[in-house]
Amino acid sequence: MKQALQEMDRRGFLKAALAGSAVAAGALAGFPGIARGAEPFNLPPLPYPENALEPHISGRTLSFHYGKHHQGYVNNTNRLLDGTDMAGLPLEKLVKKAAGLKDKALFNNAAQAWNHAFYWQGMKPRGGGKPGGKLMERLEKAFGSFEGFRKALTGAATGQFGSGWAWLVLEGNSLKVTNTLNADTPLAHGQKPLLTVDVWEHAYYLDYQNRRGDYVNAFLDHLVNWNFVSESLG
Ligand code: FE2
Repeated sequence: MKQALQEMDRRGFLKAALAGSAVAAGALAGFPGIARGAEPFNLPPLPYPENALEPHISGRTLSFHYGKHHQGYVNNTNRLLDGTDMAGLPLEKLVKKAAGLKDKALFNNAAQAWNHAFYWQGMKPRGGGKPGGKLMERLEKAFGSFEGFRKALTGAATGQFGSGWAWLVLEGNSLKVTNTLNADTPLAHGQKPLLTVDVWEHAYYLDYQNRRGDYVNAFLDHLVNWNFVSESLG
């Protein structure tokens, strides 16, 4: 997050800050430990302007996806937390705790708030291609080759029936590709997320219609923020 913020130009930061103008100062302590404290959760600023991922993801898609969908999940989480003893938990801890509740409404919205914040961080303008260094070695070891990783993530993303997410995760000390249905998240399964691609139709339909595979290829070829993945891997 720190590096992502540093990479933002001032105009981008201002635009992102305005886009998240709902936000009371100080309530966002950083990602992924988005703190709530006594204040409601805020929509975290996008790490780039809404049109910065064009032509691969349009500003129109980002405007709806971030400004309407992500904002909606944050708002619903705040509403559902009112009057509960879980208000004040950082978002990641809230997601893990809510996963055990019988009523899934809080989990679904809190997990979607977290998943989207994570998804934005995993992309950047002029990203994509291959990572370097230790991360590349880890991917080659886990998947046989970078192409093996690419095939696994593409398969998870395009093979997800209906809405959901495809992920690169750390499970124990192993890199794995997985997918989750609807709002579900690796946080609820003891895995550490490293990268995700949103395969809900709202993520790509304005730009790609039913061509989910083209969207996933654009994500891998032009958008992945490998620095963020490396930092998450540690
Ligand atoms: Fe989404």
